Amino acid sequence: MRKPIIAGNWKMNLSLEHGFGLASEIKWMVSDEVSSPIEIILIPPFTHLAGIQSLLKGSVVKLGAQNCHHEKSGAYTGEISAEILKSVGVTYVLVGHSERRIYQNESNALLAKKIDRVLENGLKPIYCFGETLEQREAGNEFEINLMQIQEGLFHLTNLQIQNVILAYEPVWAIGTGQTATAQQCQAMHKFVRNALSDKYGEEISNSISILYGGSMKPNNANELLSCEDIDGGLIGGASLESRAFLEIIKTIG
Ligand code: 13P
Repeated sequence: MRKPIIAGNWKMNLSLEHGFGLASEIKWMVSDEVSSPIEIILIPPFTHLAGIQSLLKGSVVKLGAQNCHHEKSGAYTGEISAEILKSVGVTYVLVGHSERRIYQNESNALLAKKIDRVLENGLKPIYCFGETLEQREAGNEFEINLMQIQEGLFHLTNLQIQNVILAYEPVWAIGTGQTATAQQCQAMHKFVRNALSDKYGEEISNSISILYGGSMKPNNANELLSCEDIDGGLIGGASLESRAFLEIIKTIG
């Protein structure tokens, strides 16, 4: 019932030339080799968005941005608004990636405002949440993730929440090669779906996609993506290589 989603977060990687090369390879590979209904999203750096949008015309592959500002517009030098992202053809915006929570000190309250800006512009936020290793070792992972979700999302109405995608990205699994086990992921995804159900009801909760991210690779994607409550992947490192990214897509397609 939930359409699987595979998104590639390129982070701060790839020159314009290499980014265009990767996007066109993925576009052609997807059209040749993927026939099932999967939502495929490329999330390049801001500078590449407009060009990649033109390049993806006619393709099923969609475009996402890595961040946006929490205000609508104005004197915020160096920032990008959700409205500007919409004007270049973006469909999805990452909100709350742990690298921004950690390096830019983004709080749940700030992220709640970003979520509002994204939704106001008819775009879909991909809201990332996840615990650090210390938090997991202290046994606080469920509490921490619940707080990130409550404070970032639970101001939304029943209608608004249905346009949000969630992504569980345990910080200790990002870029480390140390993937959370399928059991750990499924337990967290189920817990989050139950929390969504308590707040918004079972029907809405069952319609919301919850992705997993953190060292997902072709060799572990199948096990993770087979779990009942894991609806797709948010891929970092393996999305920078067209064949690896496609292999992950093909585990569901
Ligand atoms: P890696 O796949 O490189 O661990 O990155 C995951 C991630 O942070 C995606 O947003």
